[in-house]
Amino acid sequence: MNAISRLATVISLASLFPLSALAADSKGSVEVVHWWTSGGEKAAVDVLKAQVEKDGFTWKDGAVAGGGGSTAMTVLKSRAVAGNPPGVAQIKGPDIQEWGSTGLLSTDTLKDVAKAENWDGLLSPKVANTVKYEGDYVAVPVNIHRVNWLWINPAVFKKAGIDKAPTTLEEFYAAGDKLKAAGFIALAHGGQPWQDSTVFEDVVLSVMGPEGYKKALVDLDQKTLSGPEMAKAFTELKKITGYMDPNRAGRDWNIAAADVIGGKAGMQMMGDWAKSEWTAAKKVAGKDYQCVPFPGTDKAFTYNIDSLAVFKLKADRKGDIAAQQDLAKVALGKDFQKVFSINKGSIPVRTDMLNDMSAEGFDSCAQASAKDFLADEKTGGLQPSMAHNMATSLAVQGAIFDVVTNFMNDKDADPAKASACLLYTSPSPRD
Ligand code: BGC
Repeated sequence: MNAISRLATVISLASLFPLSALAADSKGSVEVVHWWTSGGEKAAVDVLKAQVEKDGFTWKDGAVAGGGGSTAMTVLKSRAVAGNPPGVAQIKGPDIQEWGSTGLLSTDTLKDVAKAENWDGLLSPKVANTVKYEGDYVAVPVNIHRVNWLWINPAVFKKAGIDKAPTTLEEFYAAGDKLKAAGFIALAHGGQPWQDSTVFEDVVLSVMGPEGYKKALVDLDQKTLSGPEMAKAFTELKKITGYMDPNRAGRDWNIAAADVIGGKAGMQMMGDWAKSEWTAAKKVAGKDYQCVPFPGTDKAFTYNIDSLAVFKLKADRKGDIAAQQDLAKVALGKDFQKVFSINKGSIPVRTDMLNDMSAEGFDSCAQASAKDFLADEKTGGLQPSMAHNMATSLAVQGAIFDVVTNFMNDKDADPAKASACLLYTSPSPRD
């Protein structure tokens, strides 16, 4: 059974259970399920909460801890099965289409807002299509994250005798050796499947380029998935794993980021939500830390669009529907787009803002990100992140995660065998 029908079967059980209505206050309330729980992430989501509350609605916080969101997605599915989905939930990429096909997302709620606010004019087709189901908006996109970043503590680099950020894998290994020799953790990392695969997809991008990345991790082309270049990517992944701290199992990404911020480690491979931790620690981009594309990926941009999907509510819950609409309107407004992304480490989704980032007061990392996003859109360098739910169904993603994490935790694992295993992650590529 494919992932869509599996989800649809599970969801259809929901009809056996009564819908439990959320208690609405006079103007209406909205419950939001999300996984923004680190210090920096919370600061960002609090901006949305404050604005929705200022508009007179009640915000019910449905935060579910766990970076990358797999725990939040499990909670969301069980709530849907119990007939009690929230009003709004953080859902991304092709998963939005799967939820759309269950009939649980609303294709009506956002119609008027999208029209009045000209969403079709504000968003690039790539972004708009991600959040539409059969032509209707079912989610509001809030920001764009770039995944293929390397975060560097320059003070640690200096102490280890490294004078520049690495631009090739060889330079990366040389920097890693120096950091280790000077007693630092070379590469801060948390041993969780989504973090392992964040590193893996960077390496695939570096070794195979954006075209190879697309063939392997987006098109799921069987030959490319199990071919010699993929085996090479696993060989490099093994080397990179050697620069990570051996006690990394289960560590959250923000704890790994804190090791770099606090000067225990030199580097971290992580999407730019990592910047939210630097910002929360009052550190300045370009001075206290450096953001550079992961070596060998400067002509590519793996994107990850955070979006908030809107669930169908009974027509008599007018106040709660108004709260969903208010949240969506706020989320694409200029003020929110700016303050949220500054706190979150991301860039806005609005093309007018992406084209004018210096005027908007964004830092050097965000300006570079917007510039590369626009440039890479034209060259094919812009690719959806597999590790962050943008490229495949969650079922295929889960199978890839297993291969990658098993490989990284087995020092005797064979790169050629690992790439052969990838072949079995996806017998029928998603179209
Ligand atoms: C989400 C980010 C979040 C990160 C860590 C990513 O998948 O897109 O918004 O900050 O996970 O939890």
